[in-house]
Amino acid sequence: MKLLVVNGSPRKQGNIFRMLSAIDEEAKARGIETAFVSISDLHVAPCNGCMSCRSSLRCVLPEDGAQRLLRLIGECDALAVGVPCYWGNIPGQLKTAFDRIVYGMMGESPNGIPKPLHKGKKAIIVSACTTPFPFNILFRQSEGAVRAMKEILKWSGFKIVSVVQQGGTKAHAVSVRKLAACRKAARKL
Ligand SMILES: Cc1cc2nc3c(=O)[nH]c(=O)nc-3n(C[C@H](O)[C@H](O)[C@H](O)COP(=O)(O)O)c2cc1C
Repeated sequence: MKLLVVNGSPRKQGNIFRMLSAIDEEAKARGIETAFVSISDLHVAPCNGCMSCRSSLRCVLPEDGAQRLLRLIGECDALAVGVPCYWGNIPGQLKTAFDRIVYGMMGESPNGIPKPLHKGKKAIIVSACTTPFPFNILFRQSEGAVRAMKEILKWSGFKIVSVVQQGGTKAHAVSVRKLAACRKAARKL
């Protein structure tokens, strides 16, 4: 089995990184091969919305980090994505990357019904935000980022086996309890 770990935070040593590292370490300890990619290393140009990829299955823009991400997703059996909450959503950099590879994530029937292209693959989502618990959930802060990430992964066919959310990162870094939850999530792959 191969696990792709995607750090959706531009902070390479931040809370999301720590949560994903716990998953990565646990997966490796269980004999799972892992690859780690940070969104800030991908340098993806925004989608121009031409929709031609839906029929041609390729992007008209020059190849960049988006295609690298798609190749890595294509090669993996499972995905762990870390999404810091930005304005109750996923960071723009990460959304831009998934916009650019929509053609490799889901197909469409002639009348626009989505066809998932990664059926059978498992996924873990981790999120963090400064809003403390329970308001990170109630006010859809980390919860909002998770919802947005679920939207992408579910329509692409991924089965979300675990979600871990850390609130209150202004006051404290990711807790030992949440790191344990991340390791537990890796055991569900
Ligand atoms: C541009 C930006 C927008 C943010 N928006 C929110 C927000 O809407 N709600 C929130 O609780 N935290 C928000 N945050 C705080 C981050 O979610 C928080 O610092 C998180 O721990 C970042 O994870 P990281 O340490 O892995 O980068 C925002 C941070 C940035 C940089």
